[in-house]
Amino acid sequence: MCGIIGYLGPKSPVNVLLEGLKKLEYRGYDSAGLAVVKGKEIYLCRVKGKIKDLEANLRANPIDGHYGLGHTRWATHGRPSEINAHPHRDCEGNIVVVHNGIIENYLSLKERLIKNGHVFKTETDTEVIAHLIEENFSGSLEEAVICAVQSMEGSFAFACLSPLDPEKIVGARSGPPLIVGIGEEEYFLASDVIPILDHTRRVVFMADQEIAILSRDGLKFFDFSGQPISKVSTELNWSPLMVEKRGFKHFMLKEIYEQPQVVRETLSEALSLDFGEVNLPELEAAKDRLKECRQAVIIACGTSYHAGLIGQIMLESLAALPTRVEYASEFRYRDILISPEDLIIAISQSGETADTLAAIRGLKGKSGPLLAICNVPGSSLVREAELTLLTQAGPEVGVAATKTFSAQIATLTLLALWLGRARGGLEKEKAIEIMLELQRIPHRMEQILNNKERVENLAYRFSSYSHFLYLGRWISYPVALEGALKLKEISYIHAEGYAGGEMKHGPIALIDEKMPTLAVIPKDRVFEKMLSNINEIKARDGIVIALTDNQAELENHVDYFLPIPSTHPLLSPFLTVLPLQLFAYTIAYRLGADVDQPRNLAKSVTVE
Ligand code: M6R
Repeated sequence: MCGIIGYLGPKSPVNVLLEGLKKLEYRGYDSAGLAVVKGKEIYLCRVKGKIKDLEANLRANPIDGHYGLGHTRWATHGRPSEINAHPHRDCEGNIVVVHNGIIENYLSLKERLIKNGHVFKTETDTEVIAHLIEENFSGSLEEAVICAVQSMEGSFAFACLSPLDPEKIVGARSGPPLIVGIGEEEYFLASDVIPILDHTRRVVFMADQEIAILSRDGLKFFDFSGQPISKVSTELNWSPLMVEKRGFKHFMLKEIYEQPQVVRETLSEALSLDFGEVNLPELEAAKDRLKECRQAVIIACGTSYHAGLIGQIMLESLAALPTRVEYASEFRYRDILISPEDLIIAISQSGETADTLAAIRGLKGKSGPLLAICNVPGSSLVREAELTLLTQAGPEVGVAATKTFSAQIATLTLLALWLGRARGGLEKEKAIEIMLELQRIPHRMEQILNNKERVENLAYRFSSYSHFLYLGRWISYPVALEGALKLKEISYIHAEGYAGGEMKHGPIALIDEKMPTLAVIPKDRVFEKMLSNINEIKARDGIVIALTDNQAELENHVDYFLPIPSTHPLLSPFLTVLPLQLFAYTIAYRLGADVDQPRNLAKSVTVE
């Protein structure tokens, strides 16, 4: 939520910041702004709206400078407006701040600062940071920041500059992510690596309670107590091409189409077919503890939670490991009994979701190994987990998660196979059977994506409906939840994901000809049961669209088909989710919705 970028180097900062903000826009897009410094002057431009509005404003009123800061906002305190857009300033307009997160004690700080004579101009919590720095400033920006952070509570990452201590950008992190990019005689400070990939792949991931000072003399780091610290830089293997649309209308569509390759890459090094083994070198050192675990507890939010529900079925079926799946946002407030024999699996695309991080932090010292399944190297989750399986999806820009979901379920499948073999419950022959089928999954995914006309036609046909039901049972239930989430978040149409067997306990009352049902019904152990649920809907004049590999047996029971290739029952989610993603995408596109940046959402939810 909110994207920050700072630049100090030989290039024109306005261009670097603007291009960077375009790549950060998925983190927030209700207002934007930037500030650049030229000599003793600060030039500022802020708008309500998107980066394209900021760009248009800058074209009409050009500004220039030598270094600067930019921000794209997802409002928390104060409505989206030009005045509330970042950067924010102190009383004299000499200190400029961009911020991501929430200053929880901002009201008491504001009261104190007003008593001391500070004048506030905005409704934001961010403005207190500028005034706090002003209050503590006596020539050194970093010293003022070190003093300011002592009185700030909450979760924040911010960057600031001041021509009173020129040619310098100072960043502080306590919660939301902040990274430093190191280029040729240039430095970047940003909320994530995506906006700097065009310039450099060398980055330093800042940890909590750390301060970075970027200046023409070099780069320095301090902790919040003011002690100098040394940090190591990392060379990323992500490329700038990965964050281009490459001919697709939207990032979401491109990312849907990347899924076969993502799964292929996830599997490529891991499957050892001759021996029926999965290679997960990241887990080897902890193998003894992992195979002795009593249960697994999966913690996640949103789409990652749905992947977790699929992981639960995999871990129970393949590894005979009792598994619970918990919403991080609920789990963190419960009095949960966790023991050192419990394996905790935190799943997060971004590795920065505030609820997921809070939930795992609450388990420190109580649980067994903490395994992160995450797509972002160097993220908070990765740094805090004992073990990590990095998903091989590459950067995901569309706010609606698609390829990271496939990467998560591919990784969970590998984990379940690995644990099944390590714990001794999974026969070599059964492992090989699943691994062989797993290898065919990318090709089967391509078959679906290359035949998208039927999904598109159905999406067009149903784009005027206001309510949808998504039904599934067993391993298709999480797919139904995920399909409904995709439709809701990008098209703003009401959609309910439900377990087929629960229909008769209430939701069946909703059924009429105005609420179509997408039934996820591959030929598996619950096929007949789902068929009964479909018949119950048809008996009440409901319209049913079936996603199935068994059209023959459904011929007279449903209204429309979305065919999928057959696969091993445990692997069907890799296939069934694709038509649902395309269905949601096509409806949203047809309705003119902003597919990559749906209203009210942000890609990574770094506030509670
Ligand atoms: O980065 P995470 O995987 O932790 O994010 C969790 C959710 O915020 C995320 O999956 C969200 O639900 C997406 N918008 C779904 O498309």
